[in-house]
Amino acid sequence: MKSFPPYRIQVVKEIPVTTRAEREEALSAAAYNMFDVPARKVTIDLLTDSGTGAVSAAQEAAAAAADRSYAGSDSYYRFRGVVDKLTSYPHIFPVHQGRAAERVLFSSVLRPGQLSLSNTHFDTTRANVELLGAEARDLPCVEARDLDSAEPFKGNIDLAELERTLSGPDGPRVGQVLITITNNGGGGQPVSMANLHAVRELCRRYGVPFFLDAARFAENAWLVTEREPGYRHQTPREVAEQAFALADGCVASLKKDGISPMGAFIGLRDPELAKRCEVNLIATEGFRTYGGMASHDLERVAQGLDEVLEPDYLRSRTEETAHLARLVNDAGVDIVQPAGIHALYLNAGRLLSHIPPSGFPGHALACQMYLEGGIRCVELGSLYLGKFDAGHNLLEPAPFELVRVAIPRRTYTLAHLEYVAEVLAGIAKNPQTVPEYRVVDAPPLLRHFNLKMAQAAA
Ligand SMILES: Cc1ncc(COP(=O)(O)O)c(C=O)c1O
Repeated sequence: MKSFPPYRIQVVKEIPVTTRAEREEALSAAAYNMFDVPARKVTIDLLTDSGTGAVSAAQEAAAAAADRSYAGSDSYYRFRGVVDKLTSYPHIFPVHQGRAAERVLFSSVLRPGQLSLSNTHFDTTRANVELLGAEARDLPCVEARDLDSAEPFKGNIDLAELERTLSGPDGPRVGQVLITITNNGGGGQPVSMANLHAVRELCRRYGVPFFLDAARFAENAWLVTEREPGYRHQTPREVAEQAFALADGCVASLKKDGISPMGAFIGLRDPELAKRCEVNLIATEGFRTYGGMASHDLERVAQGLDEVLEPDYLRSRTEETAHLARLVNDAGVDIVQPAGIHALYLNAGRLLSHIPPSGFPGHALACQMYLEGGIRCVELGSLYLGKFDAGHNLLEPAPFELVRVAIPRRTYTLAHLEYVAEVLAGIAKNPQTVPEYRVVDAPPLLRHFNLKMAQAAA
């Protein structure tokens, strides 16, 4: 029987509807940077699934009853109880969001010149490594190179390459191995438990700490129960607990699988490392029993972490994404296969094959989706990952030209998603009319947040 979302909608927010002329004006005023388009000019906002999900009545009830004490509030102990049960890490520090967790942990682990190895560092994760003078190196698995293949765990790290690096001349420079579950920078693909087990063994052998970037730990666990032999009869909670248990610690943004507008935590086993992090935490985020979080966010997160592991919720969210994937494919647009959960990654390079990487097909498609339908999403291609010279000319393109269409949790209905597919179908009928773009200005770090672009002919 078909599954359905295990909730009904009780509070709604209207969405803006704009004219084509208004969208042209808004996009050009934003210098073709999606992050600078005001939300009131966006009809369907698929820029991110981070902090944009709908909270439940139970989360809001808990938030209303939150305890605002500075130290040791009831809300902290509730949060602690939920996170302890899930992770079994003895040291847990709340922080205000994932990048704060990265900053606090990495600055206590990494020294300048060291290497951080990952299946793929997310953009803020990479920035927090590089700001410390360390190098962030991605080692995605070989299967990830084929966007069309149905391989179930294309989010894995390349184990052979990991071992080569750990045992080779760069080995002594490796300060940490960080596995992102699911792999947001790598097509939203999951990481298998077998891969996590192997990473743990290699890290043990070479004496390197192994951390998880666990922003989407529940969605990864669900895909493990669906795709990895031996886990089919386990609950997503059981799988998630085992994943956390394999690592020496984690950073976890709770704006994703905490289903909360704000929040994150650091989990650690090593008491010495925990002491160093705690000093940094208190100096820069907040006292250890609230980090950077308000008490109401501690409550929302504690409740959200339970709701996110409900199989009915994860099943219906996965089906929602799969439904959009089918519609998009029927519309003539290829995606990174197989579809994950939090986002679809459109193969813009293939759809807009008349645009070379230097004309940024991913950005061109994202802009066109906005212009045609008021849909906001973001490029993950050469603008995001390419290498540029000082004059903003593309020197080395990214391996793929993608657009990430993120799906906020519990937020849009199937009718909204059908509208998205309809807009894409319109673009796919006449792809050669979509123009190229060029970079007018861009900062060296976290480029795509602060870009200024123009249409190439302009
Ligand atoms: C995999 C991953 N890690 C870290 C972060 C950073 O988290 P935050 O936005 O809470 O700072 C994100 C945010 O999107 C993410 O997707």
